Amino acid sequence: MELAIEAKDLRKRYPPDVQALDGVSLSVEAGTIFSVLGPNGAGKSTMTRVLCSLTTPDSGEAKVCGIDVVKHPDRVRRVIGVVGQKHGSDQNATGRENLVLHGEFHGITGAELRRRVDDVLERVGLQDAAGRLVRTYSGGMARRLDIAMGLLNSPQVLFLDEPTTGLDPEARVQMWHDIEQLAVQHQMTIWLTTHYMDEADSLASQLAIVDRGRVVAQGSPDQLKRELSGDTVLVELAETDDGRAAGAIASVTTINDASVEGRTLRARCADGGAAIPAVLAALDAQQVKVASVTVSRPSLNDVYLRHAGRAFEQAESESEAVAA
Ligand SMILES: Nc1ncnc2c1ncn2[C@@H]1O[C@H](COP(=O)(O)OP(=O)(O)OP(=O)(O)O)[C@@H](O)[C@H]1O
Ligand SMILES: [Mg+2]
Repeated sequence: MELAIEAKDLRKRYPPDVQALDGVSLSVEAGTIFSVLGPNGAGKSTMTRVLCSLTTPDSGEAKVCGIDVVKHPDRVRRVIGVVGQKHGSDQNATGRENLVLHGEFHGITGAELRRRVDDVLERVGLQDAAGRLVRTYSGGMARRLDIAMGLLNSPQVLFLDEPTTGLDPEARVQMWHDIEQLAVQHQMTIWLTTHYMDEADSLASQLAIVDRGRVVAQGSPDQLKRELSGDTVLVELAETDDGRAAGAIASVTTINDASVEGRTLRARCADGGAAIPAVLAALDAQQVKVASVTVSRPSLNDVYLRHAGRAFEQAESESEAVAA
């Protein structure tokens, strides 16, 4: 197994007291899509920037294609493509002009540059729009141009920081398809950060779930879900819980790992179908009204809840509250 990325115990603190990376270790096999899934502020962009040699860690080690990112940043930059979280293109230039400029920046010129620009335009499906100003592009097209720029130096590893955030559902699915093609047809290693569970679930062969600067779980999506045996019971309450639902669920002996957030009660149990009558009876005894009940196999959200100790949506809203 050839490793494209290896990180050992990376730490980084932003003054005065934000521990953005709190001992991150992970490894990524060459030629695979590796997804880093985590809520706002988890440290995804910081990890990405360290691995791309755009910022240095306080301690720890990282190698990309076997090259130490701290000791040889210039060599690392030659084998990687980077697509940052924000748009990198000039809105008042055409798609092709942006690519030419970016190529020249990398020292590519003449016929070789023209060939590569045509090649990447085709790979992201922008041949027909290449002569249009970027400000006339849709969000999905602008993001595909960002990816084309990242591909221009024929990288072995492509870093994508939240490539689909802000795209409409249709453009997101198109982008998933494009990313998959890159990995399969060009045997590229793709590092992809996201805060969409479904994205990580459908694209990644391996993923790391991160929270507060730590990797809380790593494995294939299926492996991580399989580790949680049993079912998830999800009860949508008619009203926000005043404590009675939490009390009621605690009394049901077949349930473990129950949590109530607002109107959502989530519980884990060995057999969801068998547990439902007892759950409903316990809620009814406390006069808690129920809007709906579903039983499902474990999802990545359950994996996150188990390892991070809180639900993904809750982590997102907590970090928004901190940022506000
Ligand atoms: N340049 C900086 N100076 C100070 N603090 C920073 C800086 N960059 C990031 N942080 C903080 O470090 C933590 C991790 O940030 P990071 O951008 O890596 O998270 P993220 O997972 O990419 O989040 P998002 O999903 O919002 O992009 C956050 O608390 C953030 O506020
Ligand atoms: Mg980020």
